[in-house]
Amino acid sequence: MCGIMAYIGKKQATPILLNGLRRLEYRGYDSAGLAVLQNDNLVRFRAIGKVDNLSEKIKNEKLNSTIGIAHTRWATHGGVTENNTHPHSGCDDKLMIVHNGIIENYREIKKELGDHKITSETDTEILAHLIEKNFSGDLKDAVVKSLLLVRGTYGLVAIHAKEPKKMVAARLGSPLVIGIGDEEYFLASDASPILPYTKQVVFLNDGEVAEITENSLQIYNLKDQKVKKKIEELDWNEEQAQKQGFPHFMLKEIFDQPTVFEDAIAGRINFEEGTAVLGGLNMTPEQMKSINRIILIACGTASYAGQVGKFAFERLAGIPTDVEIASEFRYKDPIVDEHTLVFGISQSGETADTLAALREAKRKGAYIRGIINVVGSTIARETDGGTYIHAGPELAVASTKAYTNMVAILILYAIQFGRNNKLSLATGQRLISAIKEIPEKMNLILKQNDKIKEIALKYKEYRDFYFLGRGINYPVALEGSLKLKEISYIHSEAYPGGEMKHGPISLLDEDFPVFAIATKNQLYEKMVSNITEAKARKAKIIVLATEGDEEIKHLTEGVIYVPPTMELLEPLLNTLPLQLFAYYITVALGKDVDRPRNLAKSVTVE
Ligand code: M6R
Repeated sequence: MCGIMAYIGKKQATPILLNGLRRLEYRGYDSAGLAVLQNDNLVRFRAIGKVDNLSEKIKNEKLNSTIGIAHTRWATHGGVTENNTHPHSGCDDKLMIVHNGIIENYREIKKELGDHKITSETDTEILAHLIEKNFSGDLKDAVVKSLLLVRGTYGLVAIHAKEPKKMVAARLGSPLVIGIGDEEYFLASDASPILPYTKQVVFLNDGEVAEITENSLQIYNLKDQKVKKKIEELDWNEEQAQKQGFPHFMLKEIFDQPTVFEDAIAGRINFEEGTAVLGGLNMTPEQMKSINRIILIACGTASYAGQVGKFAFERLAGIPTDVEIASEFRYKDPIVDEHTLVFGISQSGETADTLAALREAKRKGAYIRGIINVVGSTIARETDGGTYIHAGPELAVASTKAYTNMVAILILYAIQFGRNNKLSLATGQRLISAIKEIPEKMNLILKQNDKIKEIALKYKEYRDFYFLGRGINYPVALEGSLKLKEISYIHSEAYPGGEMKHGPISLLDEDFPVFAIATKNQLYEKMVSNITEAKARKAKIIVLATEGDEEIKHLTEGVIYVPPTMELLEPLLNTLPLQLFAYYITVALGKDVDRPRNLAKSVTVE
């Protein structure tokens, strides 16, 4: 939801800013802009569309600045126009800011500003004018004074031509990471653009303001008191954040899955004890026993991982488990107490709705834990424990490897709770053995890449799809359907197979294909019946089946086989062909796979 990049040091700022924006583009790509200090003046460049357009616009400029701020925008207040693009300035272009978040009381502030000349429709520009109004020689003071008048959320960086060797950043609700180099500092909305330069970082917390020169960093709170911060070491490497020869991040991330799955389970399973050991849970066996309800809070793909988690917790640990869409949970006066364990599941760890829902549950006395990918993210830091899923940087907007690793960690937690309750050693051991086989089986599926592509290409002209699954495969159908619609823009819905006859089947005809997940588990026969019903309505059928199931062939125009595994683990395999299916249709349609329209990777607004 908008990406911020800033640099202060001795190097040329412009290439660093542009490279940073490219890595943050997944957060928003409606427009991009930057401002650098050039011969004592701030000069600004802005362009609609992707960062490449901005780069093209400034390619002939002779910029030699060593300080600058930049932004890639996902439009919230105001349309996609150059005027609405950041950086925003006050009246005289001496002050510029980039901002991520929403200033809720911007209309009130605008009235107070009187005759300031406003040129955009954005809330950010109002904040820029407010800081300009409050500036009397000290940028940090002006920023703090202004932020005390603001309601809303912000991650922001400001520079002022009258204090040319300084940068001021602040955070409330929108992430900012400060990378510490050798007499240089990098600021960004997440760590990925900082990785090429340094692994030493400081994560700003809500209510903190950073005053930065090329050789000093001082953090304050909004009461203007100095705050001492820990310097942290990033453990993601630069190579992980590159495409590594794949044409798109999404494809690379699909193929990352066997490796990152191993990272997720490494050191966390114990075959002898038939259990998982997730120390981050931070609960004693007695506290675990006191839990009589689990709530999994998430959005989008993370919530579908949660739905698999629900099966696992209920089946293995016998604990009633609900999956709650974060944006709904926070407003429904949820019933939780000290016997409730709430997991927030999030790739970015920054999703505003998930964060707010967790805060609400915490207020009501529940245990709050995180299942998070991005290290040091807000949810990771606000929860009282939890587990990193170790999927590595996920840069395609469509989530793939984070989903499988979320499912992996949820299953491990369910085993851990199960073994603390009633789950037998034998079942625990069977699960652990089967989990260890998953990466190899994922590789077998990925080897069918060409075949899945061939099937996908046959279906690229259809405008509607149903994805059907039952039991543990219903969440898989939901995830397959979301993948297809969010990147290809083909209309798609997912239903439990048995639900078709209650309405959705009326849409079926020869132009409305069905992708059915019919692997051999306890609901196989039922699923075959549902496929037959769809076929009777002339729908073309694609089936995901278990290796060796020859009989299913007579029902389908295309079958994709996956290796058998324990029923509870099926989503760890069955989702992969659906990801590839969505990917290849999208490529064939010529759409932007990694950056689908209207979306952003990290949704930090409500
Ligand atoms: O960062 P999060 O896991 O909290 O993000 C949640 C959703 O926004 C995300 O999964 C979204 O649905 C993806 N575009 C799905 O591919």
